[in-house]
Amino acid sequence: MCGIFAYIGNKNDAANIAFEGLKILEYRGYDSWGIAVKKGKNLAVDKHVGKIGGASVNLPKSNLAIGHTRWATHGGVTVANSHPHLDCRKEIAVVHNGIVENFEQLKEELIKKGHKFVSETDTEVIPHLIEENLKGSSGFATSVRKSFNKLKGLNAIVIAYAPSSEIIAVKNGSPLVVGLGKDEFYLASDISSFIEKTKKVIFLKDYEMVILGKDIELISVPSGKQLEVVPETVTWKFELSSMGKFPHFMIKEIYEQPLVIRNIAENYEDEINALSKLIKKARGTYFIGAGTAFHAGLTGTYLFSKIAETHVNTAVASEFNYLEHFLNKESLVIALSQSGETIDVIEPLNRAKVRGSKIVAITNVLGSSIYRMADFKILLNAGPEKAVASTKAYIAKLSVLLMLVFAMVEKTADAKKLLLLAADEIDRILEKKNSAQIKQVAKFLSIASNIYVIGRGVSYPSALEAALKIKEVSYVPTEGLAGGELKHGTIALISKGTPVIVFAPNDDSFESIISNAIEIKSRGGIIIGIADKNQPVFDYFLQVKDIKEASYIAQIVAIQLLAYYMAVDLNLDPDKPRNLAKSVTVK
Ligand code: F6R
Repeated sequence: MCGIFAYIGNKNDAANIAFEGLKILEYRGYDSWGIAVKKGKNLAVDKHVGKIGGASVNLPKSNLAIGHTRWATHGGVTVANSHPHLDCRKEIAVVHNGIVENFEQLKEELIKKGHKFVSETDTEVIPHLIEENLKGSSGFATSVRKSFNKLKGLNAIVIAYAPSSEIIAVKNGSPLVVGLGKDEFYLASDISSFIEKTKKVIFLKDYEMVILGKDIELISVPSGKQLEVVPETVTWKFELSSMGKFPHFMIKEIYEQPLVIRNIAENYEDEINALSKLIKKARGTYFIGAGTAFHAGLTGTYLFSKIAETHVNTAVASEFNYLEHFLNKESLVIALSQSGETIDVIEPLNRAKVRGSKIVAITNVLGSSIYRMADFKILLNAGPEKAVASTKAYIAKLSVLLMLVFAMVEKTADAKKLLLLAADEIDRILEKKNSAQIKQVAKFLSIASNIYVIGRGVSYPSALEAALKIKEVSYVPTEGLAGGELKHGTIALISKGTPVIVFAPNDDSFESIISNAIEIKSRGGIIIGIADKNQPVFDYFLQVKDIKEASYIAQIVAIQLLAYYMAVDLNLDPDKPRNLAKSVTVK
């Protein structure tokens, strides 16, 4: 997580340029932010706790600035812990994305050498390390290189050094991209933050170091050798998203879902057919993803079994490193990722690549790291997803997966029809009278102390996703589980008044899940049924009409709305839940 933005060039309002760039990067972390500018032979720094959105910056005119919007890893959310961090002489400023895994040992060594630390962060060792290396005869670039080589973990760092009027960036892991303007350079975690200024870019590769001053130099960190600078011109258009008539991005994005589904139904046949051929050719296909994206993958596993009669594994991406030993040249690893930047996904993909496996990306962000590293890619085209809780990208992934399983059995036309029905059903759920009913249930649930969600078959991943959505925006502890698992332990937590959401679509799970609901009700639980028809066991009924194999797409929308209204009811910001970030670029 964390957003990095830097500027060096012919304009003297570098602080404002960085400030505006950071605002675009706020989705990467929003607990605090800071900017440093060169002021003579020193640096001036302005740091704040809180979101950058409504803030202002107070720094002198300068043509060099580095900035950061933070998602805390090491050290609480305080001004002292926010970036940039400085060396003892206040000549070196560092912003950082990642975790310095050996920072305690480095800090101890540096303290012994007389360095003074003012924060609890891992990052602060970096400026002091560079300061220490500068004491020898090394120049700025060599000192940065030497220091970077001492850091363990996946790190992207950007350093401003006032005496040399240069910015240096180096990375392994998290993304950094350089923008080359006329007599100026931009550097950021995400190209969208400067795309209005220049489309000439260099995506920094792992273990490359870029030096930006009057000119640009690229160095290989392992060899120290100079590399050729070959910029590419991106032609992508980045849509900026505004809330329009909606009070929050989350609700706007929920309402955009029918459009996203129709787009996939109507335009994806060729690429989906090509992917189905890759799956048929592979000896072993694996979906990997984190959080919501993992739930999409798990849904895929159920769909592949039922509709395509094919086994496809799904793993939590951060666990895939421990399950990779069977991967080989014939394996296909399909990464699901809205942002395309999740480090928990990138890391196992890199390792799968080393084993010769083919990589497929199903992502929403053109040009993202996962998009660029894939051999075959499917772009979700759901439009920018700004709310931290993923909604439309999830629905887009589910839609692609439905098309894919039907393509496996050469029945894409059936999938298209089902998707169009799902889009219509979602339109119906979103109508005022139906959403008002969901609002009522949200009122009841927002005062619950804990909630359970159950489903079976393809509705089991829906239960996991429903629980995740509710807890991330309402903070009400919620657990999703397979209906059959309840009696193996969790039923001990059901007592009078415990709310349990039950997914009971009209499929092969119906009878068993209704039996589970009856078991819960016998112990005092309150049942919120999500089904085609009302059932005697339901205390509350939210209707999602039967649309056969696509019912699981529409049923999750009812829960997205429920979670959203719970957050609103509790006076919480559903777009920026505490402790979360949209792009998760640390392990
Ligand atoms: C939850 C949510 C997260 C993400 C996860 C992976 O609403 O958004 O669980 O799904 O952090 O992110 P991506 O899909 O960008 O790889």
